[in-house]
Amino acid sequence: MSDNAHRPIGVFDSGVGGLTVANAIRQLLPNEKLIYFGDTAHLPYGDKSKETIMGYSARITQYLLEQNCKVIVIACNTASANAYETILAEAGDKAMVVDVINPVVEFVTKEAGYKRIGVIGTKGTINSGTYVGKIIARNPHVTVASLATPMLVPMIEEGFIFDDISNAIIRSYLSKPELSQIQALILGCTHYPIIKNQISKFFNFEVDVIDSSRIVATHLRDLLVSKGQLNPDPSPVHKFFVSDFTEYFQVISKLFFEENISLEKVTL
Ligand code: DGL
Repeated sequence: MSDNAHRPIGVFDSGVGGLTVANAIRQLLPNEKLIYFGDTAHLPYGDKSKETIMGYSARITQYLLEQNCKVIVIACNTASANAYETILAEAGDKAMVVDVINPVVEFVTKEAGYKRIGVIGTKGTINSGTYVGKIIARNPHVTVASLATPMLVPMIEEGFIFDDISNAIIRSYLSKPELSQIQALILGCTHYPIIKNQISKFFNFEVDVIDSSRIVATHLRDLLVSKGQLNPDPSPVHKFFVSDFTEYFQVISKLFFEENISLEKVTL
């Protein structure tokens, strides 16, 4: 085991959505100490330019490196799609980097072997073409239908889940003809695991709905095992930072992390 094993894992997102990934990590890797950063002062990332997302991501990466993190987990599809190389360059040899797109692309093309895949996400994720480009690069025989679904993040954050309004919005997006023949749908936004069951139901459970949070946690575990960096210390104390604090962030964080947590404000 390497000395690095005792260092924390940094996880970041534009807000509290990435807590779905943090939750999957803590369930699979209960000894790992998490430092979460939600950039609530700048959300949503989904409507921002690539340059802006790169700038925010670089600054957050520096902060997580200052906290001595051994891995930076980019728990945001929009940042993974637009700033992965920036974050890799910033981390250098100080920390490993795990994004939420590459492990999912590997899963759908290698392990699952789908031929017709759909992906939904923010405008920033879908318009970047990252999912389509990476899937086709691995298997040119796969068809990928991608659709920006920008109403889903505010819908989830406002608590419209498993009701008539969310059913109508989900139906309106997912009944688009380009998604009619898919075998699997990638949830290309870390907010969407919250409505995974509702989406599965829309497809009468005939389409595999891919929740990246579990795939990313499994990828992270395999990486830590291969580097001898699994943390042996039990009972970790996690920390949760946000760049802007409101009571509302505090309340909805429970929806994503499935446990009461206390958010602390930090100015970068
Ligand atoms: N959670 C972010 C993602 O995965 C979406 C929220 C946002 O637009 O900031 O893309």
